[in-house]
Amino acid sequence: MHQDVEKILISAAEIKEKIDELGRAISRDYSGKYPLVVGILKGASVFMADLIRAMSIDVQIDFMAVSSYGASSKSTGVVRILKDLEQNIEGRHVLIVEDIVDTGLTLNYLLEILKARGPASVRVCTLLDKPSRREINVPVDYNGFSIPDEFVVGYGLDYREKYRNLPEIYVLKKGVYKGR
Ligand code: IMP
Ligand code: MG
Repeated sequence: MHQDVEKILISAAEIKEKIDELGRAISRDYSGKYPLVVGILKGASVFMADLIRAMSIDVQIDFMAVSSYGASSKSTGVVRILKDLEQNIEGRHVLIVEDIVDTGLTLNYLLEILKARGPASVRVCTLLDKPSRREINVPVDYNGFSIPDEFVVGYGLDYREKYRNLPEIYVLKKGVYKGR
């Protein structure tokens, strides 16, 4: 295990099993709809890569990047588009793929922007949910795991851009970050 992590919260095997389940549910719900699956960079990239391979329907993919946390572990509520979609989503069924929904501020903002573009539907799939931290009510249509209020890294999730490449989801050692 990496020296900066305290323990494994979710193992690679548990992640895989859950993604297979999500992929089946999404494939069933979007049967015949050719959804546009939108990964939110950079955190969702690892999840997205595995999730789309667990889907048995035709999908198109695209990515967006927004800034939420900057270099700190605390949400500021300031959200900025760093990279926009390439696709026009008017009339499309859009599925947003997120790594984690924490305060909900990032997702709330994204939903507002995307809904204003006239899609046929917008739904959200997140790997992780921290319901105890929610500051604004946002709909989560597909959730992998609800987790306690601990700062987690790995499987795409970072702290100051590190640990995204770790294969499982871990609780970061308290000494590594401060001020939460
Ligand atoms: P929200 O706007 O507070 O919901 O924050 C969502 C974003 O914050 C996620 O996409 C992550 O990038 C980041 N984030 C929130 N909690 C964690 C965590 O425990 N570990 C790593 N990143 C997190
Ligand atoms: Mg991050």
